[in-house]
Amino acid sequence: MLFHLTNPNTSPAPNTTTMTHKPTVVTCGLPYTNGLCHLGHLRTYIPGDFYVRYLRWLGDDIVFVCGSDNHGTPIIVTAETEHTTPRAVSEYFHAHFDEVFKDMGINFDRFGMTDDPTTHHRTTTIIESLIEKDYIYEKTIQQSYCPSCKRFLPDRYVEGICPYCGKHARGDECDQGCGRHLEPGEILNSVCTTCGTQAELREQKHYYFKLSKFRDYLLEYLPTLDGTINARNYAIGWVENELKDWCITRMMDWGVAFPGKDAKGLVTYVWVDAPIGYIAFTEEWANTTGNSWQKYWCNGDRVHFIGSDIIYHHCVFLPAMLHGAGYQPPSAVVASGMVTIDGQKFSKSRGYVIWTKEDYLDKGLPADYLRYYLLAYTNHTRELDFSWKEFQARINNELVNTFGNFANRSMMLVKTKLREVPEVAVKQEILDEITKTLCLVEKLVRTFEFKAAIDEILLLAGYGNSYISNTAPWKMIKEDPYAAAQVLKNCLQIVKASALLIHPAMPKSAQKLWEMLGYTDKIEDHPIGDALVPFENKTLGEVRPLFARIDDEQREDLEATLARRAVETQNKTTGKDTMEAEIDPFLENIVTIDDVAKLDLRVGLVIKAERVPKTEKLLRLQVDIGKEVRQIISGIALNYTPEEMIGKKIVVIVNLKPTKFRGEESNGMLFAAGEHAASLLIPLRDVVPGTRVH
Ligand code: MSP
Ligand code: ZN
Repeated sequence: MLFHLTNPNTSPAPNTTTMTHKPTVVTCGLPYTNGLCHLGHLRTYIPGDFYVRYLRWLGDDIVFVCGSDNHGTPIIVTAETEHTTPRAVSEYFHAHFDEVFKDMGINFDRFGMTDDPTTHHRTTTIIESLIEKDYIYEKTIQQSYCPSCKRFLPDRYVEGICPYCGKHARGDECDQGCGRHLEPGEILNSVCTTCGTQAELREQKHYYFKLSKFRDYLLEYLPTLDGTINARNYAIGWVENELKDWCITRMMDWGVAFPGKDAKGLVTYVWVDAPIGYIAFTEEWANTTGNSWQKYWCNGDRVHFIGSDIIYHHCVFLPAMLHGAGYQPPSAVVASGMVTIDGQKFSKSRGYVIWTKEDYLDKGLPADYLRYYLLAYTNHTRELDFSWKEFQARINNELVNTFGNFANRSMMLVKTKLREVPEVAVKQEILDEITKTLCLVEKLVRTFEFKAAIDEILLLAGYGNSYISNTAPWKMIKEDPYAAAQVLKNCLQIVKASALLIHPAMPKSAQKLWEMLGYTDKIEDHPIGDALVPFENKTLGEVRPLFARIDDEQREDLEATLARRAVETQNKTTGKDTMEAEIDPFLENIVTIDDVAKLDLRVGLVIKAERVPKTEKLLRLQVDIGKEVRQIISGIALNYTPEEMIGKKIVVIVNLKPTKFRGEESNGMLFAAGEHAASLLIPLRDVVPGTRVH
C-alpha cells in the first residue's frame, strides 16, 4: 500500500486550543439487526462516544447519531428461519442494541432504523438525483440462480470462492480472505446457502452506479480526508488499482424500492441506504428537537467511526455517491483495528464471541471497565486481541492501583487528618502540570489517538501518586501542618482535574468520584476550564473505593464461559469454515533462530493427571520428560479430562522458570493451539519421552 500522506504522528499538530471548530456530526457504523451486540462492535461505539463526550466538554457543537441497519439478505434469512418478518427481526435486535448502548453509557442523540420512512425518503432522493445527473445505468448481468429453490441468489443466499484470493466467501463479501466487496455474479463455484445446490448463472437486469467515473475525484479528495491513516491509505490503494462500476440493486422485496417504473421488483443494495441513514437520523433528530440537519451536513464536519472491515464502503462508495448527488463527503473516517479472540475474527458459528449483555453486563461487570479497556488497550488502528487476563491486569493495575488509589488516598487523608478542606491556594506547579495534560489530551483526542490520551490522564494520576508518596503529608502533619495542608490541597486539585478529564471515558465512575469530592451536580455540566478552578468545596462527600479489583476466580469464570462456548460450538461444526489469520501481524514480532534455540522443547509423557481442587480450568499433570518427572499445572481442564490426558505424549517446554498457580508449583508448560478451544500438540509418530523438539 502506498503512503501518500505524511504520518500524522510526525507532522506538526495544529494549535487546537485557539482554533474554533465547526458544528460536527459524528456517526458510528450501523449495527445489522440480525444478531446480538458483541465486544467487537463496541470498538466502534465506545471510542465514538468518548470522542463526542470529550469534544462536548471542550465546548464543540456536536450531534451524535447512529441507528440500526435493517436491510440486506442476512436479516431476511433470519426472518425465514424464525418464521417471522424482516421488520419484526429488525425491531427485536434494534431494541437490543438500543438497550445495550444505554447500559454501556453510549449516548446517541438519535438511534434510528434504516427501514423507517426518513431513510427510505432520503435514499430515493439521492438516487433520483444520481439518475438525473446520469450516474446510473441499466445493465443485464449473469446472476447466481438456484435451480432447486427456483430463485435468484443475491448476496448471502450464495457462498463460494473469492475470485481474487481463493478463500471461502459470501455472496457480496470475501469475509474470510481479502475482505473485498464482491459484485453479483463474481463469486466462483457458487452454492445456494439454503439447499446446498450448485448455482447456475442466469440473466437479470440491474442498475449500476458509475463508480469508475469518480476515480479522479477520489484521488483528489482522499488525501484531504481526515481521520485515521489506515482508512485513507487503504482507500487510496484501492482507487489507484481499480474502480469498477457498482451494482446498486437487488431482486427482492425487503429494502428501499429502487425508483423508476422500469425498476419493478428491485430494491436498493443495502450499502446504498445504510450510510444514507446517517443523514436521515440527523434529520430525525433535527425534526424532533427543532434543529437544522443541514447545519451539520452542508456546512459542518462529518466524522464517521467504523471498524476497518468497512473502510472501502465509507471511503470509496460513500464519498463518490454523496459527491455525485451534490452532498458533502465525509470529513473524517476513523477506522479501528478489528477485535479478535485467539487472533481470530469474532464468529458466532465457531463460538468465538463474547456477548456484551450475557457475558459481560449480566455478570454485574461495570460498563466503565470495558470502556476503559477498549480505549486504553492499544492504538485505535491496531488489532485488539481480547483476553480476560489482560482485562483483569489493566483494571487492577491502572484503575485500582493508580487512579483509584491516588484519589482515595488523597481524599481519605483530608478526611482523617484534616477533617475540613484547607483554605490554602493551589500551587502554580500543580496547575501547570494540569494545564500540560489538558493541552496534550485535547490534541490527542482531536487526532484520534485515544489510547495515548487515556495514558496521559493516567500519567496525571501517577504524578499525583508520586507527589503524595514523596511528600508524605501523613508524616509532615505533626511538624508542619501548614505544609501538609498545602500538599493535600494540591492533591485534591489533581483529583478534581483527573475526574473531569476521565469523565468522557468513564462517565459513571467520574460522577461517583465527583460526589466523593463533595459536588452535588453533574460532572458533565462542568466545562474544561473548571479543571483549573481551585478546588472550592469546604467538605468532602462520603469517600469509598472507586474501583474494585477483579480477582482470579472471577477472571476464570469469565474465561470458562468463553472456553465452554468455543468447545461446544466446535464439537457441533464440521470445521468447514476453518479460518486463516491474516499474515501482517506476524511480521511485527520477528525473532531470530537464536531466540528459538533458547527454548528447550521436549516430548513428555503424561503419567498422572488430576483436577486442581476448587478450580474450573486447572489440571495437575505429572509428566515424564526423559531424565525426570515434572509437575505441570495447565489450564486445559475445560477441554480435556484427567483420564483423557493420561498416556498422552505432548510437547513441553522444559527450561521455563518454575512458577505457581493457585499455590501449586508448575515446572514447565505444554503447547496447545487456541486459548479457548485448546487442541493439544502431539507428535505424529511415536517417540520416547525426552526427545528434543526442533
Ligand atoms: N451494517 C454494517 C455497517 C453499515 S454503516 C453504514 C455493519 N454492521 S455490523 O453489525 O457488522 O458492525 C457494526 C460496527 O461494528 C461496524 O462499525 C463494524 O466495523 C464494527 N465491528 C463489528 N465487528 C467488529 C470486530 N470484531 N472488531 C471491530 N469492529 C467490528 O458492518
Ligand atoms: Zn478474497
